[in-house]
Amino acid sequence: MKLLGFVLLLSFLCCANAFNITKILDAYPDYSIFNDDLTRTKLADEINSRKTITVLVVNNGAMASLSGLDLASVKRALSLHVVLDFFDAEKLHQVTNGTTLSTTLYQTTGSAAGNAGFINITDLKGGKVGFGLSGRGAKLDSTYVKSVKQDGFNLSVVEVSQPITTSVAEAPTPSPSNMNITAVLIKGGCKIFANLISTTGVLKSYEESIQGGLSVFAPTDAAFTSVTSKMLNKLFSEDKVSVLEFHALPTYSPLGTLKTTNGPIATMASTGAGKYVLTVSSSGDTVMLNTGINKATITSSLLDDQPIALFSVDKVLKPKELFVAAPSPAPTPEAETPKATPPTAAKHGKSSAASSKSSSTSFAPATARVYRGLLAFLVVCVGVFML
Ligand SMILES: *[C@@H]1O[C@H](CO)[C@@H](O)[C@H](O)[C@H]1NC(C)=O
Ligand SMILES: *[C@@H]1O[C@H](CO)[C@@H](O)[C@H](O)[C@H]1NC(C)=O
Ligand SMILES: *[C@@H]1O[C@H](CO)[C@@H](O)[C@H](O)[C@H]1NC(C)=O
Ligand SMILES: *[C@@H]1O[C@H](CO)[C@@H](O)[C@H](O)[C@H]1NC(C)=O
Ligand SMILES: *[C@@H]1O[C@H](CO)[C@@H](O)[C@H](O)[C@H]1NC(C)=O
Repeated sequence: MKLLGFVLLLSFLCCANAFNITKILDAYPDYSIFNDDLTRTKLADEINSRKTITVLVVNNGAMASLSGLDLASVKRALSLHVVLDFFDAEKLHQVTNGTTLSTTLYQTTGSAAGNAGFINITDLKGGKVGFGLSGRGAKLDSTYVKSVKQDGFNLSVVEVSQPITTSVAEAPTPSPSNMNITAVLIKGGCKIFANLISTTGVLKSYEESIQGGLSVFAPTDAAFTSVTSKMLNKLFSEDKVSVLEFHALPTYSPLGTLKTTNGPIATMASTGAGKYVLTVSSSGDTVMLNTGINKATITSSLLDDQPIALFSVDKVLKPKELFVAAPSPAPTPEAETPKATPPTAAKHGKSSAASSKSSSTSFAPATARVYRGLLAFLVVCVGVFML
């Protein structure tokens, strides 16, 4: 009964706001480059996870001006074309006082300086609407062409004549391989974690992963309570490495991607199917990571520059392979204890220790139940969509 309610709730959440920008644009071959770039930069996930959005698409011919840019630059440029407000043709032609500044996704990445993530929308003479960067004397080179698609008052797709700017995209940024990860983490209040990854050498594994994508969930200094720190200190160094690698994904998964992810994801510590996985779930703008032992919430995005995404989280993530849940009646999360590992335990000893614990086996059926529930609600969603 509870499960049914859960499924109904999920299906309601899903279908109240279920557009798939990739699928929508698939119907328009003229925008195939723009569409491919939305997928490559994962902006599509970010768009799909929003409720109210206007996408300013550019046709294949006009996209030529962005060709040759690296992916991070394309992402910066295209994120200026995703407006966090609803503008259909009518609203565009009736902007209050003829001009307005509107927030784009670029403003939310944290890499936009000042107002750089706003665009200027101005009703030009003769029924034309111009788009440009914010700032005095902005050039409004890009103009409204036509309305492409509209979904209620939630999603609007509008074609504009050319990319709003290439200057944002071409702005020099440090190459991701030169990015100082620890400096960003320290600045973001995750100094203890930054020290841990440096002293254990895990930082090197992170850096080696960058080219193929890297996402890090860094616990804030407040997450390292004395109990948690003691627990970590008790671990053998190889297990400590596993815990730290458990805090990273070998993929670029910005917030929008996490928001549209439901279910288990492999971490850098994953050695095989189902090992050292995190279960992602979200509710509105809150993204949670469940280890099976404890649950952390993403508190902020410290850096999002393809292919690197750095987040802070409010808890140290405890993999069920190394920690056991507190026996019921479950008191505070702090009552969790590390699994006792004999000093002779080698790498292979880890898996046998994990499989012999009842906490990990009792977790599995619960997960299966959630999957069945998710499957059921997906079927409902597909059914509703087909109607
Ligand atoms: C969106 O549509 C594309 C193409 O039809 C598909 O490959 C993708 O899986 C869909 N995404 C979601 C989240 O449903
Ligand atoms: C529109 O212009 C009037 C007069 O200049 C000003 O008082 C008002 O605040 C403006 N409204 C907006 C939304 O900018
Ligand atoms: C938008 O740009 C135009 C042209 O540069 C400028 O006159 C107008 O004041 C700008 N609008 C806003 C809201 O900044
Ligand atoms: C638009 O979003 C609102 C919530 O912001 C939702 O209640 C409504 O059902 C959505 N409308 C459509 C047509 O998707
Ligand atoms: C990265 O930043 C940290 C902290 O500011 C500093 O100690 C370290 O030397 C920097 N590393 C590099 C390679 O610049």
